[in-house]
Amino acid sequence: MIFITGGAGYIGSHACVELINAGHEVTVFDNFSNSQPEALVRIERITGKKPNFVNGDIRDGSVLAEALKNSGASAVIHFAGLKAVGESVEKPLSYYDNNVLGTLRLLEAMTKCGVKTLVFSSSATVYGDPQALPLTEDHQLSATNPYGQTKLVIENMLRDLYRSDPTWRISILRYFNPVGAHASGLIGEDPQGTPNNLLPFVAQVAVGRREFLNVWGNDYDTPDGTGVRDYIHVVDLAIGHLKALERLRDHQECLAINLGTGIGYSVIDMIKAFEKASSKVIPFKVAERRPGDIASCYADPSFAMSTLGWRAERSLEDMCKDGWRWQSSNPTGYSHS
Ligand code: NAD
Ligand code: WQD
Repeated sequence: MIFITGGAGYIGSHACVELINAGHEVTVFDNFSNSQPEALVRIERITGKKPNFVNGDIRDGSVLAEALKNSGASAVIHFAGLKAVGESVEKPLSYYDNNVLGTLRLLEAMTKCGVKTLVFSSSATVYGDPQALPLTEDHQLSATNPYGQTKLVIENMLRDLYRSDPTWRISILRYFNPVGAHASGLIGEDPQGTPNNLLPFVAQVAVGRREFLNVWGNDYDTPDGTGVRDYIHVVDLAIGHLKALERLRDHQECLAINLGTGIGYSVIDMIKAFEKASSKVIPFKVAERRPGDIASCYADPSFAMSTLGWRAERSLEDMCKDGWRWQSSNPTGYSHS
C-alpha cells in the first residue's frame, strides 16, 4: 500500500494510475484545495480500481497520522503542496505553511507510524538561475521566490532527517516542466483561473477559451529568442515515481534525482508542436519578459538512468497530442464535464 498526499492533483492522479496498473494499492490523502473529486472517479475509470481516499489537510497532524496508520502503507509519495510561483510572492506565509509545515507534519506522522520510505516532489526551481547547462544534481542550489524557497527548505529538512537516522529511504525527485496528459484523455491538468504555465494556456487558446497567448519575451539568448525549457510528459514523470519506489526497496539513502528529458524546447517550438497536434492556429503576441524568468533550463537526466533505470520515453508530439486530447474532450476541465 502506497500513501499518496496530493493524489487527486495533476501529477498525483497520473502517478495513481501508474501505481495501480503496476499492482500497487493506493490511499490518496488530499484536501481538494487545487483539485476535484472527479479526478478520483476518472482514475477508477482508467484502472478499474477505486483508490482509497481520505479527505484531509496534511497540516492536520493527528488526522494525517491516523490516516497513514489505518492505510497500512509501507511508503509515502508526497505531492501535496501549493505550486504557483507568482502567488507565492503575494502570499509567502501560505506557502511556508502548506509546503514546509505540511511536510514537517507528514514526517512526524511517518516517524510515529514507523513508515520511513518517502518519494518527494521537488523541482528544477531549486537550481535558481542555471550557472551551467545541462543541469546536474550537484549544481548549486538557490531560490528566487518563496515557492522555490519552500522546496529548498524541505530538501534540507529531508537531508538532515536522513543524517540523523540513516534507516530512512528518501528519493527527492526534481521535476522539470511536466506537461501532457494520460493517453485516455480522462485525466489531465485542470488549472483554476488563468493558467500560469505555458502548455495549459496554449491548450485553452486552442480550445477557444482564450483569444491569444502572450509570449513573455523574444529577446533571450536562445536560438529564437524565446525561453527554453525541458518539457516532460506527465506519464513519464509518473513512471519515474514507480522506479524510485522500486529502488528504495533495497537502498537506505537520501538521493536527489532530476526527472527531465534533457531536451530544451522554446516557446515557439511548443506553439508550433501544439498547432500541429490540435490542427488549430494559436494566435500569440510578444510581450515583456515575465519577471523572474530565466532564458534556458534543461536537465542532464543521466543520473536517473544510472540510479533508477529510468528515462523519458514520450516525445514532444506525444505531449501535445495527449494534452490536446484531454483539453478537447474536457474543455472546462473536470467541472461541468
Ligand atoms: P496540483 O496542485 O495539481 O496537486 C497538488 C495536490 O495537493 C492537489 O490535489 C491539492 O488539492 C493537494 N493539496 C495541496 N495542499 C494540500 C494540503 N495542505 N493538504 C492536503 N492536500 C493538499 O500540483 P501538481 O502539478 O500535481 O504538483 C504536485 C507536486 O509537484 C507539488 O508539490 C509541486 O510543487 C511539485 N511540482 C510541480 C511542478 C509542475 O509544474 N506541475 C513542477 C515541479 C514540481
Ligand atoms: C515556460 C516558458 C515562459 C506562459 C514554472 C515554475 C517551476 C515549475 C514549473 C513547479 C517560459 C513562457 C509561459 C505564458 C509564455 N513549477 N510562457 N507565456 O516558468 O519554466 O516553470 O513551472 O515547480 O518552478 O517556475 O514554466 O510553463 O510558466 O513557462 O511565454 O503565458 O513559457 O516565459 O519561457 P517555468 P512556465
